[in-house]
Formats: sequence, C-alpha cells, structure tokens
Amino acid sequence: MKNNAKSVRGYDRLAKIYRGLEICLFGNALHRARLALLDQLPRVGRALVLGDGTGRLLEQLCITQPDCRITSVDQSRQMLNQQRRRVERIGALHRVEFVQVDARSYDVPENRFDLVVAAFFLDCFTEDELAACLPRFLASLRDDGTFYFVDFVWPSSTWRRRQATAYQWLMHRFFRWQTGLPNRRLVDLNAVLAGQRLVLHHSADRIHPMMACRCYRLQPLVFSL
Ligand SMILES: C[S@@+](CC[C@H](N)C(=O)[O-])C[C@H]1O[C@@H](n2cnc3c(N)ncnc32)[C@H](O)[C@@H]1O
Repeated sequence: MKNNAKSVRGYDRLAKIYRGLEICLFGNALHRARLALLDQLPRVGRALVLGDGTGRLLEQLCITQPDCRITSVDQSRQMLNQQRRRVERIGALHRVEFVQVDARSYDVPENRFDLVVAAFFLDCFTEDELAACLPRFLASLRDDGTFYFVDFVWPSSTWRRRQATAYQWLMHRFFRWQTGLPNRRLVDLNAVLAGQRLVLHHSADRIHPMMACRCYRLQPLVFSL
C-alpha cells in the first residue's frame, strides 16, 4: 500500500497549482474529457464521486443533476476545500457531503448510488489496489446504476503509444516525487475494467488519444439453480 501521509501532503500542496499544471501539459483536454458524456447520464438521485480533486467535474455534476445528492470522497483536505468553495458558489452545498478519507479504506455502502464517478482517479492506484478496491466501489451501485469513468488509457497506434510513454513517464516521475505514487508507468486501465462486471454504454474516445470518457452499467449477477 502506498505511503498515504506523503500522498495526502502532496495533493494538499498541489491543490492550488493543479489547474495550472493540467493546462501546461494538456491545455483544456482533461476538462473536455471530464465533461464529455455528462449529457448522456440519466437524471439520478444519488451519486458517489471519487477523488474529484479541485471539484470542476463535481461542480458541473451539481448543475446538470439538480436533484442529485452527492457524496464526494477525497483524501486531501485542501482539494475538498476547493470542492466546497465551488459547490457553495453555485448554491448546491446542501446536496453534497464531503468525506475526507483514504478511498482504499472507505467503508463504501453497498447498493446505494445510481452513479459512481471516477475521473483521473483510478490511475492513482496499483493493479493490486485496484483489484481490491474497484469491485467495492462498483458494488456501491444500485442495479442499473452507471459508472462514469474518465482517465488516461494507452492509445492503440504505435506512434501515439510512443508519445504517451513519454508523457506518462514525465507525469509518473512528477507524481512519484510529489505524492509517492508507487506506479512507474500507467496501469492498463482497459484491462482492469475488462475484468469487472461492466457493460459499456457510451464512449468518447476521440477527445484526446490518451484519454477516455465512458459510461458503463453493471452487469446483473445471474444466479443459476
Ligand atoms: C490526479 S488527481 C485527479 C483529480 C480530479 N478527479 C481530476 O479530474 O483532475 C487525484 C485525486 O484523487 C485523490 N486521491 C488520490 N489517492 C486517493 C486515495 N487513496 N483516497 C482518496 N482520494 C485519493 C487526490 O487527493 C486527488 O484529489
């Protein structure tokens, strides 16, 4: 398990400069990826938002889902403070519960949410951590709930993979230095997701060669007698 104190301190430090960093590296592409499929979501009543950082997606979710009560989980107090400010500005504070916790030890309520959101969050974990945590995050979805996934993925073309390798090397070095990220390269999130009970409903893969935004549904468990 990663050194969480270092990770929390790192993200607390990064909170103020996070937007500047992402603009320097990717322009507005990360934000376009975050929002790419918001308009495909049905009206939902309860959502769990994991590691939303400075809260730019959370803010838009509050706007586009006016009846939704949201639980936002992040380990970093400074990130949560930024989320709270954004949500307060749009008058949605009463609908959002902020939980400061390490998501790996968060006691995720089962069968509670219509929507689970993870944007540039799963790449903070090792494959072993994902194998342990992702099924628990997904088990918090009700039948027919949606998993809204946004993250870096490996592109398919060779030239793009080379380019991605360079970017990912840089980012992993930086986040390793700042937050103690144990990964040395991008985990193959497509492979991780393929191992879950997920069915793809919508996909926006053309925002950026290294980014994907997808809506999945949980495949119902089939019991045979
Ligand atoms: C790379 S940032 C992504 C922020 C945002 N979702 C975005 O779209 O840019 C990762 C966020 O997840 C949080 N995070 C990382 N590891 C975590 C953990 N183990 N438990 C809870 N939050 C975590 C960080 O504090 C940070 O806010």
